Amino acid sequence: MFHIDLIVLARAVHVIAGVAWAGATFMLASVIMPIAVRHGAEGAGRWMGLVARRAGMSSMIAALLTVLSGIYLFAALHEQDVSTGGLVLKTGALAAILSIGVGILLGRPAGIELGRLQQTLVPGAPPDQDTQRRIDVLRRRQVLGARLAAGLLGVAVLAMATFRYATAIA
Ligand code: HEM
Repeated sequence: MFHIDLIVLARAVHVIAGVAWAGATFMLASVIMPIAVRHGAEGAGRWMGLVARRAGMSSMIAALLTVLSGIYLFAALHEQDVSTGGLVLKTGALAAILSIGVGILLGRPAGIELGRLQQTLVPGAPPDQDTQRRIDVLRRRQVLGARLAAGLLGVAVLAMATFRYATAIA
């Protein structure tokens, strides 16, 4: 079950998917969302919505691959690990999984409602006050979700990068 070839394959999938997931999330939180908020009135919101939807889908796939390969690696190599390094590894894995929870519970519902609202808007005409207020609330929720998810992934990346040496330092 825990064959060395499979472990190597899982490590490769894990690192590639993890990099893609974390990279897309950092880009979304630090570049795409702020532009959508700042230039929403000039029509950037609609375009950014398309970008965010596409990036959201591919990072969801990358997240799934990272977690599945991570669980396999954990079961194969670290199940009995009670060292400081093991604790750092578990903290990182938990942070990454929490980041998915934040995306599902906060970012995704806001994104879906925002997309639905934007489809009801007449191109070129400003939305009425109530709709604009709702759009602002949803955008703020999206930004908060993206920042929280990026922060948690930052913790995960840091933990994955350092856990091997944590026992030596502690
Ligand atoms: C964006 C999130 C993640 C990134 C970027 C990431 C990245 C990495 C990297 C680069 C390593 C290799 C570290 C080394 O060998 O020194 C690693 C190892 C590992 N990761 Fe992750 N990881 C992420 C999330 C997760 C999750 C969610 C889990 C578990 C559910 C997990 C479980 C593991 C395990 C068990 C190892 C050790 C593999 C081994 O000893 O060969 N990781 N991760």
